[in-house]
Amino acid sequence: MKIPNIIIAIDGHSSTGKSSFAKIIAGRFGLIYVDTGALYRGVTLFAIRNFFIDKNNKIDRISLEKALSKLDLQFRPTGQDRASQLYMNDELVENEIRSLEVSEKVSFIASLPIVRDYVDTILVKLGEKRGVVMDGRDIGTVVFPDAELKIFMTADAEVRAARRYNEMKAKGENPQFEDVLRNVKERDFLDENRDTAPLKRAPDAILLDNSKMTIEDQIVWFDNIISKRWN
Ligand code: DC
Repeated sequence: MKIPNIIIAIDGHSSTGKSSFAKIIAGRFGLIYVDTGALYRGVTLFAIRNFFIDKNNKIDRISLEKALSKLDLQFRPTGQDRASQLYMNDELVENEIRSLEVSEKVSFIASLPIVRDYVDTILVKLGEKRGVVMDGRDIGTVVFPDAELKIFMTADAEVRAARRYNEMKAKGENPQFEDVLRNVKERDFLDENRDTAPLKRAPDAILLDNSKMTIEDQIVWFDNIISKRWN
């Protein structure tokens, strides 16, 4: 199946499997995959390292804003499976941006308009030739409101918490299910209620609730949409 040179915007709640889904789609249709959350994570790592955010998540906005002009975030291909990794001022930071400390602070950094402008500038450039699949929270609403295909992914909070719980267990961690569930609900609240670019479904986004779907089911669902629109 072939599709035109389009932008596919995939937004939705955390732990809905957006990135796995987006990567498979990108691979199948020869599009570039952009993990927009990685850029917010990159800015957060930069803020932590430069002491612009403290242990109580208090942010020195003025210093952060000044320093952003010295921050260079780039995705570079790994040479395998169309995957890419994030570099911060030429340093590979793909593992560091997934740390617990960054995960706990990223919602606060991502709520700042100056940070959103910084990331949006990078995203608009990456999408200027189209041919991309971007996953995030505001791609179809703010960054590319003209995206040709928009998907909004969600799943029951309990299902998402169970997925994260199993992932953490597989990594050798020993979480309590109730804590993981609380964290999933807290992140939903922060994403949906921030003033700038909150998470919401664009009116023209197609809803994908994958609470009871495997990844294979989701790809079949997606192929159906593509063949209805472009075949
Ligand atoms: O998708 P993720 O968990 O890696 O995203 C990290 C954080 O960045 C999360 O708190 C939501 C935020 N984010 C955002 O506000 N807008 C985006 N387009 C992508 C991510």
